[in-house]
Amino acid sequence: MIAMKKITILTQLALCAGLAFTGFAAQAEDVKGSAQAANAKVWLCTGCHSIPDYRADYPLVYRVPMLGGQNAAYIASALAAYKKGERKHPTMRAIAASLSDQDMADLGEYYAVQTASSPNNPLK
Ligand code: HEC
Repeated sequence: MIAMKKITILTQLALCAGLAFTGFAAQAEDVKGSAQAANAKVWLCTGCHSIPDYRADYPLVYRVPMLGGQNAAYIASALAAYKKGERKHPTMRAIAASLSDQDMADLGEYYAVQTASSPNNPLK
């Protein structure tokens, strides 16, 4: 188990070295995300962060940021910041509190591969 984790970290470091978004990559998690695994989790998010129109009916007063196409490591680290309380938005804090590091990495990968022209999320 420990040996596997080390390999994962090394793999991530190797991948990160090649990324253009070095600022975000520097915060890379020690878990590897899977867009496919996130399919079981995005139902939590699609009500607000839906693709492609990314407009929320709720909560009315907030503009919901578009996640599709965003950098995976950025999404995961934003979620971690909500969980830790470094980011303050109450709804996002409550949602992030229920997510594991693996969930955050998976969701990051999921949204990173979405674009405005991606087919509608079937869970939307
Ligand atoms: C109830 C509506 C709602 C739901 C459900 C929701 N979000 Fe959010 N999310 C928001 C709002 C509003 C913001 C902007 C908050 C702020 O200004 O900090 C936000 C911000 C974010 C950000 C920061 C984006 C950035 O550009 O900084 C990420 C990442 C994010 N959400 C991911 C998720 C994920 C992943 C889920 C599902 C697990 C989810 N959200 C579920 C409303 C929601």
